[in-house]
Amino acid sequence: MGRPRSSSSHFADTLAIVQDTISQRAAVLRPSATFAMAARAGALRAQGRQVFDFSAGEPDFRPPTAVREAVVALVRERAIGYTPVAGMLALREAVAEHLSAYHGTAISPARVLISCGAKHSIANLLQATIDPGDEVVIPTPAWVSYPDMVRLAQGVPVVAPTLPEHGWRLQPEVLARVVGPRTRLLVLNSPSNPTGGGYGAEDLRALGEVLARLAPRTRVMADDIYRRLSYAPFEHASVVRCLGDVLENIALVDGVSKTYAMTGFRIGYLVASEAVVTAATRVQGQTTSGAATPSQYAALAALTDPSVDVEVAAMHEAFTRRRATMLAAVTAIDGLRIVPPDGAFYCWIDASAYVGRTGVADDTALANWLLDRHGVASVPGSAFGAPGYLRLSYATDDASVVGGCARLTEALASLAARGAE
Ligand SMILES: Cc1ncc(COP(=O)(O)O)c(C=O)c1O
Repeated sequence: MGRPRSSSSHFADTLAIVQDTISQRAAVLRPSATFAMAARAGALRAQGRQVFDFSAGEPDFRPPTAVREAVVALVRERAIGYTPVAGMLALREAVAEHLSAYHGTAISPARVLISCGAKHSIANLLQATIDPGDEVVIPTPAWVSYPDMVRLAQGVPVVAPTLPEHGWRLQPEVLARVVGPRTRLLVLNSPSNPTGGGYGAEDLRALGEVLARLAPRTRVMADDIYRRLSYAPFEHASVVRCLGDVLENIALVDGVSKTYAMTGFRIGYLVASEAVVTAATRVQGQTTSGAATPSQYAALAALTDPSVDVEVAAMHEAFTRRRATMLAAVTAIDGLRIVPPDGAFYCWIDASAYVGRTGVADDTALANWLLDRHGVASVPGSAFGAPGYLRLSYATDDASVVGGCARLTEALASLAARGAE
């Protein structure tokens, strides 16, 4: 018989086993490609390299003045305790008022759940409404997180392809093909990350008719996180205004992250029927509890202080300008193709003409080559279900948009002329 193992080595063995044993639920999740590229860009910058970072999905601005002042005053003057799980009543009332005005219908605060970012709002909705095997239709290319959040809720993501010739909008005949008896949710993200495509009122009505006819139990989740980042001539259309009379089940997801440059505050909101909001609140109550109290006060200031609108308008103007700059640069590069985005802050580029050359096997290799050799960070399209594409974010300062586009132009010219270095 060997020597009995010391309790400390036994503990180490047990720890190793525990660390190796992860759930199937967690094992199927993929790390976010967007965060991964942003981290790589940050690491290169820390080494002293000049990097033009077009990978980030967040505004570079400071939050509006009134928001910052509200947080400072709160921290200086008051105790910061828990709020109710669903959020402070004052904030739920402000959200209800704000969204009632936009969607042209009376939304009561009882139908509002405040969560830790719009991502959390979506996760709560899925956990509260999706049973194992339920299908969720996701127009693709799509935001990287939707399919994984559906899987985490034990649902089945169903891809509904969209095409550039349709402005990346889901077509009614495609929706008709993918819905079935197990369809429970249709995700509509307008304007879209990554494509920038947005739905007009007619598009929404046509999709609503398909659902009413073929899958009336389907709920529509409108992810409106970019709705106020819409650029003329596109005008965001309210799913509630367009479909409220044909569909009972609509869930709205919105938040302060993009519109008010408040990504780090982590405040999003879900508006749905009282039954769904009650269930989603139970989910949140047993996972995170209420969102961070200072962040809720900050969001309240964003939604209620009249001075905020001026600063939001200035940010919108900057995004409009940067969009024009990047769009012009990309359009001028031989071989790249792009549908001018209706909104959000991304250029979604077909770069397939540059893939398959020596050393650049696919879009991931192209994105890595652009970053490593030329200091331009982007996100490869395959992360969004679209190999051969690149997503470039113009949520960065004007000088970086100009400088980074010049770099991109030179890099791709060198690739076209002589293959990868
Ligand atoms: C389409 C889409 N929905 C939701 C979110 C999440 O927003 P939040 O930062 O408020 O969680 C993002 C963020 O990138 C997004 O792109």
